[in-house]
Amino acid sequence: MSRTIDWDGRDILIIDQTRLPHDERTVRLHRVEELAEAITRLRVRGAPALGVAGALGLALAIRRAQEAGQDIGSAVDAAAGTLAATRPTATNLAWGINQAREALSAGPEAVVQRAVQLLEADVAINRALAQRGADLLGERQADLGRSLRLLTHCNTGSLACVEWGTALGIIRAAHERGGVADVLVTETRPLLQGARLTTWELERLGIPYRVVVDGAAPALMQRGRVDAVVVGADRVAANGDVANKIGTFSLALAARQAAIPFIVAAPESTLDPATATGLDILIEERPEDEILSVNGHRVAPAGARALNPAFDVTPAGLVTAIVTERRVIRPALGEGVIG
Ligand code: MRU
Repeated sequence: MSRTIDWDGRDILIIDQTRLPHDERTVRLHRVEELAEAITRLRVRGAPALGVAGALGLALAIRRAQEAGQDIGSAVDAAAGTLAATRPTATNLAWGINQAREALSAGPEAVVQRAVQLLEADVAINRALAQRGADLLGERQADLGRSLRLLTHCNTGSLACVEWGTALGIIRAAHERGGVADVLVTETRPLLQGARLTTWELERLGIPYRVVVDGAAPALMQRGRVDAVVVGADRVAANGDVANKIGTFSLALAARQAAIPFIVAAPESTLDPATATGLDILIEERPEDEILSVNGHRVAPAGARALNPAFDVTPAGLVTAIVTERRVIRPALGEGVIG
């Protein structure tokens, strides 16, 4: 299976990302509760993939209700509620659910069709975004007169989408143009999306990379070893503030200090004009054990407590550019997402 998430007309298929990089396994999700568990446990994750998962979740609810002869409207309402509650920060999840739900007035098959449309559209959207972002990196490459040393955080590749990727999609497109010398991948504590998933993708793509601990990134920028930072987003507020994986804000501060571009890749579906600023974004807090244990082994003493915000907000003033499939927004110059 090359797609991170897919639909076979009856069930949802996902690559179980908790097993990567050592075990590439596709799992079949038959019930909405199984999908909700898969989202909560990050078996399927990343904002664009969550948007598609939300929409397909309603298709799944419809198929099960049809088989059991149950009321479709109630099944869709229940599924929308269950799925929306799984992860609050990535706006794509609620967006995908709403997109599919709005089609119900035209009948259940219209919901399924809408979900499949979002699934198919994701690939083209990411490819368009990636080319636009690679153009931007091309300008940086021309300024420096050499190929680029890039730094990225978390996982924003095909595993975070249906295929291809957003920030990692830009890096992939830039690599295809011969513009990438090296990619520094932050390990992305506590769940190691960088060390486990981004490395897995870069390995398969043949793009040179090295993993760095999260805390090393600012120092490496300060020493001139990074030409640009390229990251994804989970939600962009109307003023251009960007919610993304915890640790992103530190990268943006360091990039500003080192005077290097801080580029955010986000499909239009990640832009949330209804949320005024980053302060209005609900930040998901995840279980303490994700920090206190590593690979199932407790590392902190019994009784130790942890605080585990999964995302942070980078103020618009630190964001050089937000690249979408349609445009480049420049928040640091005062541009917001509306318009
Ligand atoms: O908790 P995750 O792994 O779902 O967080 C993912 C991120 O923060 C990504 O940077 C973001 O969703 C963009 S993915 C193209």
